[in-house]
Amino acid sequence: MIAIHFGNVAVAKLLIANGATVCYSPPDTNLTALHRCVRLAVAGSAKDSLEIMNALFAHGANANQMDRANETALHKLMIDAWFARHDEESMKKLYPIARCLVENGAILPTTINKKYVNGNPLWHIINSGEYVDEWPENVGTDHNMVLVGGGWVKKRDIVPRNNSSHGLGSER
Ligand SMILES: *[C@@H]1O[C@H](CO)[C@@H](O)[C@H](O)[C@H]1NC(C)=O
Ligand SMILES: *[C@@H]1O[C@H](CO)[C@@H](O)[C@H](O)[C@H]1NC(C)=O
Ligand SMILES: *[C@@H]1O[C@H](CO)[C@@H](O)[C@H](O)[C@H]1NC(C)=O
Ligand SMILES: *[C@@H]1O[C@H](CO)[C@@H](O)[C@H](O)[C@H]1NC(C)=O
Repeated sequence: MIAIHFGNVAVAKLLIANGATVCYSPPDTNLTALHRCVRLAVAGSAKDSLEIMNALFAHGANANQMDRANETALHKLMIDAWFARHDEESMKKLYPIARCLVENGAILPTTINKKYVNGNPLWHIINSGEYVDEWPENVGTDHNMVLVGGGWVKKRDIVPRNNSSHGLGSER
């Protein structure tokens, strides 16, 4: 999808509206339009990417389609998020992309190298299943923050209430 590669929203939407195959992937890479949207979001405009993704999903794109490396668009996104894990601006930018994928049926990849999970704030917020409208302030860009009762708190501030609880407090 050349239009997506260059981030041409109008052209991409026109193609999709006119029946471009939203699940098409070239046989050499098996990269889908959604994979390309993730690249666009990481390297260019997340807003444009989101707009195209919504159009793709409205026309039946499959959120879990894999590429040559057996990686879904969300898998790619999580790897990119890990590399950008110390950059809060990147997290804010990629969060709506991850949410869009998940809300359209993407499942967190089980085959992802654990290296890309540890310390990946995007992974943790998606995995928590507690979605907020925007990337929360002061989440921190490490994995020392956890979502408790709708708010983000530092792990070290969680005091175990009693010893029968095997919750977050035990991770201190
Ligand atoms: C692309 O996907 C098709 C269908 O699943 C598969 O047959 C083909 O081997 C894949 N191509 C590559 C390069 O992995
Ligand atoms: C992708 O998955 C298929 C089926 O499980 C497997 O045969 C193939 O080796 C995998 N390819 C890669 C690149 O991991
Ligand atoms: C919890 O367990 C620890 C170690 O077994 C013990 O020292 C502590 O007094 C216990 N706390 C409570 C509130 O029961
Ligand atoms: C200990 O914590 C658990 C889990 O939060 C709770 O269900 C239980 O009632 C608590 N027990 C006491 C004695 O406070």
